[in-house]
Amino acid sequence: MARRISLSRYLIEEQRARPSPDNDAGAIPADLRLLIEVVARACKNISNAVSKGALAGVLGEAGSGNVQGEAQKKLDVIANEVLLEANEWGGHLAAMVSEEMEGVHPIPHRYPKGEYLLLFDPLDGSSNIDVNVSIGTIFSVLRCPDGITEPDDLAFLQPGVKQVAAGFAVYGPATMLVLTHGHGVAVFTLDREMGSFVLTQDQVKIPEDTSEFAINMSNMRNWDAPVRRYIDECLAGKTGVRGRDFNMRWIASMVADCFRILTRGGVFMYPQDAKHVKGRLRLMYEANPISFIVEQAGGASTNGRQRIMEIQPEALHQRVGVVLGSKNEVERITRYHAEAMK
Ligand code: F6P
Repeated sequence: MARRISLSRYLIEEQRARPSPDNDAGAIPADLRLLIEVVARACKNISNAVSKGALAGVLGEAGSGNVQGEAQKKLDVIANEVLLEANEWGGHLAAMVSEEMEGVHPIPHRYPKGEYLLLFDPLDGSSNIDVNVSIGTIFSVLRCPDGITEPDDLAFLQPGVKQVAAGFAVYGPATMLVLTHGHGVAVFTLDREMGSFVLTQDQVKIPEDTSEFAINMSNMRNWDAPVRRYIDECLAGKTGVRGRDFNMRWIASMVADCFRILTRGGVFMYPQDAKHVKGRLRLMYEANPISFIVEQAGGASTNGRQRIMEIQPEALHQRVGVVLGSKNEVERITRYHAEAMK
């Protein structure tokens, strides 16, 4: 029988294989392991709620708005509560930040505090919730700066290169968990009967070239010239400068679009444009964790001008333009931006 590696076993084996310099007491990596397992457990709960849909009365609007002024769906609120509740008491975190909450969520005083900061988008792809299309959860883990016991916004405002782990779950036909802790990317599939995530792919590699792009074409009239140039060239296909046909896919759930790119390559773009002047997606709990994963899988991720993970964040809910996926295509688009600036 093929060897089944559960998430717990994977994490323990990774810890043994790669002792970190600050691992003397074993405390920090064990806490990180705990953190990842707790987040994965929360994702299982969210996956259950998602899969029950109307039977559990979880579809539709919550009747409230989030910090971005977007209408919250019931599942946005449920997923947020599941993640907060799961992560408050374990002693592995110093504080949390969520897309659904304006400020930092402190760990209640009755629980011990840990050394990590957790940021998450509890349910990415909200517009797809009620239509039974893949959605997901994205998370990013930072270290709490030394000597800070009550982390505020400033403690969280670290560039993506400081992430110690990141991941996302996709609630699709199967529930998958994609994970990096800086040593490649592993993918786990939820075995619903056993209730555990099982390793189904390790050391994922994104092909460097692709003939597939993902962008919301309804924004075309607002695009900057370099984005328009790139897409025009793709659309020209065999008869144009690229000399080959391109295909388009757009799921409108970043997690699902990015999972496809991890699986077979492609480029995903939500660039800044005349309508989304600062970009559409959130830097700290969407673009940074996905960029970490994409880079760990051999892909690239920029805002068209700069590597996303090197951007110094100035606000928790800051937005950013995103161009990520197959390395050679992302480099081409970034070059088009540089040429347009000359
Ligand atoms: O909030 C993020 C998100 O749901 C992404 O998952 C997705 O790529 C994007 O928004 C879709 O936004 P729109 O439908 O406005 O293009």
